[in-house]
Amino acid sequence: MRFLVLGRGKTGSLVAEVATERKHHVRVAASKENVACAALTPENLRDIDAVIDFTAPHCAAANIEASVRAGKNMVVGTTGWYGEIDRIRNLVESQGTGMVYAANFSVGVNLFFEVARAAAAALRHDYSGQIFERHHVQKKDAPSGTAIAIQKVIREAAHANEDLEITSFREGDVVGLHEVVFESAADRIYLCHDAKSRRGFAEGAVRAAEWLAGKKGCYDFKDIWREL
Ligand SMILES: NC(=O)c1ccc[n+]([C@@H]2O[C@H](COP(=O)([O-])OP(=O)(O)OC[C@H]3O[C@@H](n4cnc5c(N)ncnc54)[C@H](OP(=O)(O)O)[C@@H]3O)[C@@H](O)[C@H]2O)c1
Repeated sequence: MRFLVLGRGKTGSLVAEVATERKHHVRVAASKENVACAALTPENLRDIDAVIDFTAPHCAAANIEASVRAGKNMVVGTTGWYGEIDRIRNLVESQGTGMVYAANFSVGVNLFFEVARAAAAALRHDYSGQIFERHHVQKKDAPSGTAIAIQKVIREAAHANEDLEITSFREGDVVGLHEVVFESAADRIYLCHDAKSRRGFAEGAVRAAEWLAGKKGCYDFKDIWREL
């Protein structure tokens, strides 16, 4: 397939590397080449099958809009724009293109969501819950999209609008660590996912782009990763 990767940062670079390893043709547009979505005109996207976005919260929605209007499928790894999800979903559906988005494209984290979902029963048995997340100091959004997703999964599974506070730490070059702690008067339950590298994110995003070929509509990776 032919991919345009938006963002030549820590994750975008690895996405390009993984896609090349999987025998795809890859072009990368960094911020300089994509001022006001210049890389995303129908002309520039003519020979592209899907656009993969790992940029920054301030430009993600505009990148999606431009790619969708050019009729292209989109995989969005960038976080921090989900306030616009309803508008974007309507746009994708009305234009007849396909999109997969996720706060976290790692299969391991998506398994962790299942673990958290099962453990959420604790909230109905006199446990209180807390979420902690640690990331590198350059991360622009807090709390992390993954922590917010874990909070949502637990609240939905527990059928409780419990106070489930998220505490964020920004330190060193931590790739991404998420902990869920349930505490009762009698004991404490710890769940932890610790990303060792960004490779899991990159592989998930590339495999999502392969999966999306020929599909229409807006998908959350947590609902489709089992099909990869
Ligand atoms: N979903 C997941 O699995 C996952 C995993 C890791 C990260 N993320 C998210 O992905 C995003 C990127 O993370 P990162 O760690 O790779 O950040 P990063 O190292 O800061 O890289 C972001 C890159 O995007 C570039 N950029 C900014 N605006 C752009 C635009 N309009 N067009 C093209 N490129 C643009 C930046 O260039 P300049 O420096 O020149 O501005 C920078 O090189 C963040 O939102 C992060 O939370 C998601």
